[in-house]
Amino acid sequence: MSPNSTFHVRGGRPLRGEVTVRGAKNLVSKAMVAALLGEEPSVLHSVPDIRDVQIVGDLLSIHGVKVDRDVAGGTIRMDPSAVEKAHVVDIDAHAGSSRIPILFCGPLLHRLGEAIIPDLGGCRIGDRPINYHLDVLRNFGAVVDKREMGIYITAPNGLTGTKIHLEYPSVGATEQVLLTAVRAEGLTELTNAAVEPEIEDLIAVLQKMGAIISVQTDRTITIEGVERLGGYEHTAIPDRIEAASWACAALVTEGDVYVRGAQQKPMATFLNVLRKVGAQMDILDDGIRFRHPGTPLRAVAIETDVHPGFMTDWQQPLVVALTQAEGISIVHETVYENRLGFTDALNQMGAHIQVYRECLGGSSCRFGRRNYNHSAVISGPKALHGAEITVPDLRGGFSYLIAALAADGVSAIHGIDLIDRGYESFRDKLTALGAEFWED
Ligand code: EPU
Repeated sequence: MSPNSTFHVRGGRPLRGEVTVRGAKNLVSKAMVAALLGEEPSVLHSVPDIRDVQIVGDLLSIHGVKVDRDVAGGTIRMDPSAVEKAHVVDIDAHAGSSRIPILFCGPLLHRLGEAIIPDLGGCRIGDRPINYHLDVLRNFGAVVDKREMGIYITAPNGLTGTKIHLEYPSVGATEQVLLTAVRAEGLTELTNAAVEPEIEDLIAVLQKMGAIISVQTDRTITIEGVERLGGYEHTAIPDRIEAASWACAALVTEGDVYVRGAQQKPMATFLNVLRKVGAQMDILDDGIRFRHPGTPLRAVAIETDVHPGFMTDWQQPLVVALTQAEGISIVHETVYENRLGFTDALNQMGAHIQVYRECLGGSSCRFGRRNYNHSAVISGPKALHGAEITVPDLRGGFSYLIAALAADGVSAIHGIDLIDRGYESFRDKLTALGAEFWED
């Protein structure tokens, strides 16, 4: 389908059936970057067929990595034995819509002595600066030079282990430290690190390659640099964001969906909230079944946070579910300053959501008393009706889809292709669940 096509959904049908989630987008892309650090080939399993994987695969290829992908089988083999410099125009052309190039820096500095970061993409959910990443690289001894074509980074004296404290436990900055420190000279100590399950899984990948990394209970990560890393063979952890998205879709449409691959432990915080909302679930070894209770859903107050808190990426699908809950729900977004913009379209569809600058319902966060609408008050239940809407970003986009599936009448959704960045075969999955949609 062309990027300009419109996706029409006739809502009002409960989603019923089974979907399978494969490897997490936010691990797979990083594990692919890690392969660059090795002297031998790496093999990653459970790789989903999403656009972000294609982007990272292309970026690896233009740097001389031989990438062989079995899309249907979900396996990708990466041979980095002939890593080479890429042309800046090629990096720019392949990276345009992703933030991943920033994570190539450490590995490329180790392998080639230089790295170039073009203008970065990613979802427009806040400023999404890269200052932590550049500070981290400087800490290891890299020289950062901002040029017209992008940011040019070199390491004239090599990279040396260091002490780093993150002012905020950023996922990307933690990964930047890991991917750089594993082959830096000496010891690195990172405090206030992010410890999301995807980061634990990246650490597992790096350990298989020969890295020495320990994680303390106070979120300090210590890395002892090694001279050489080998390859790895690894099965990615399942995508807990996609799993939660289907769970909310089941709830909002009053359906019943078995999400094969959904895992209890990395989703524990989400499952607690969904229980409070009233969802019924069967938590099994190979997946979780989510279904509507048949009675009104209940309002909740939540606050997004770093792990083990409620993920910011679960927030948007949950908000759609909360439009159907009885009473007033409060959502305080503390990870991104601008991740509630998608609520305008939900209001257009009949929801009643007001956003506030204040930190509502929980502790005060770094966005309080500033000009950021980062708290939402949702009054429900409100019947949703079809509307014409445009996908704003990946997670917001999937939430629109959920809202459209629950709404009365037909919705016309523009820009649906953005969802292909992170939701594997969502059209096939919708069909399997009995949704009615068409594209033109
Ligand atoms: N931040 C800075 N400076 C930086 C980096 C981050 O101020 O240099 C701020 C961000 O603006 C944000 C906060 O720190 O307010 C947290 O950002 P973080 O670095 O943790 O996010 P990220 O690594 O860019 C990843 C995921 C996001 C997910 C966040 C939080 C990937 C590719 N992306 O982003 O996923 O929301 O962690 O868990 O792993 C998505 O999948 O749709 C998505 C946006």
